Amino acid sequence: MSQSSRRKPRVAVVFGGRSSEHAISCITAGSVMDAIDRDTYDVVPVGIAADGRWVLESSDTSRLRLTTPGALPEVDGDGDSIALLREEGRTDIVVSAPSATPRTLGEVDVVFPVLHGPWGEDGTIQGMFEMAGVRYVGAGVLASAVSMDKAYLKIVLQAAGLPVMPGVTVTEREWRADATGCRERIAALGFPAFAKPARGGSSIGISKVHDASEVDAALVEAFRHDPKVLVEVAAVGAREVECGVLGTLDGGVETTRPAEIRIGGDHEFYDFAAKYLPEEHTELDVPADLPAEVEAEMRELAVRCFEAVSGEGLARVDFFVMPDHSLVVNELNTMPGFTQTSMFPRMWAESGLDYPALVDRLLQLALRRGTGLR
Ligand SMILES: Nc1ncnc2c1ncn2[C@@H]1O[C@H](COP(=O)(O)OP(=O)(O)OP(=O)(O)O)[C@@H](O)[C@H]1O
Ligand SMILES: [Mg+2]
Repeated sequence: MSQSSRRKPRVAVVFGGRSSEHAISCITAGSVMDAIDRDTYDVVPVGIAADGRWVLESSDTSRLRLTTPGALPEVDGDGDSIALLREEGRTDIVVSAPSATPRTLGEVDVVFPVLHGPWGEDGTIQGMFEMAGVRYVGAGVLASAVSMDKAYLKIVLQAAGLPVMPGVTVTEREWRADATGCRERIAALGFPAFAKPARGGSSIGISKVHDASEVDAALVEAFRHDPKVLVEVAAVGAREVECGVLGTLDGGVETTRPAEIRIGGDHEFYDFAAKYLPEEHTELDVPADLPAEVEAEMRELAVRCFEAVSGEGLARVDFFVMPDHSLVVNELNTMPGFTQTSMFPRMWAESGLDYPALVDRLLQLALRRGTGLR
């Protein structure tokens, strides 16, 4: 047997990154690295600093935990620089320190991009891995890009006959050129509505628009985050229920039982504070208390959404359950929150797949899949 077929697959866990979810990515990477079985895989921790520098990180994951409240973990960019080097038929991970000869850490077999938001979950880094010819966990270029953009996701889901809230897209250019026309298009949808940055996340820049008098302020706020804004009809009185999707090793797709988010306090919707501040008492019901036929329908719709965007690996599909129990798809996340206590791993644990097994499944799926045409 050759040396290369005997050695353990080498996993580059890439984390940090340039989005506002840098710290959460570091925390997640700590739990992912702790969960990877070292008898099966070699792990190389690769950090992306907030300024975009790629550095070799320490394999001591303790500094990625949330220990001191208020002190968030980060990739500080002080480590040695890292690059992917494509050679004939293989991709090596190369380290270079000032005044030292660059050295290879060996071939990378698979990358686990533990990144959320722009430059991580939006197809850009996936395109880079495609160019480098290296396998990676999760959705490909198109699925990532479409799912990140709430306006395009709606177009794709609608075309596939999936239920979504009606909405309109307003660009900053259209708003500057013809605010009256934009206001009319929004008013035609009806109120209440939600205005959201098209490629946002974590509810940042999202507002509920109760009536026409709130349109301008909501758009201005959303434009601070993205020159493209989606305004959609509010799902009034809806429950927020999510469903986990995962590829299977034989090429199929399976789903979790759905789970519900119950927002505590006086939040009008699942805003940033309700998502991240522990004192806000947001409860996760895993599994959700739903009639069996609603649950079955949701799981079927979740698979159809995954297929509509050409999803691969994993996704969390978020639904509104309307008061009459009809279902509407809110969004699809190709790299859902992935700490041990996040919704997606909790849903899989409830379905019998614990965190290390979930991480292993994702690596196995990625290792079996080539690059290209994604
Ligand atoms: N049409 C809508 N009707 C009712 N509530 C909505 C609607 N759109 C958004 N919301 C509320 O705003 C929250 C955030 O919206 P959304 O999930 O679309 O974006 P996001 O959470 O910022 O994206 P991500 O989940 O990728 O971080 C939802 O969880 C929900 O509470
Ligand atoms: Mg959401």
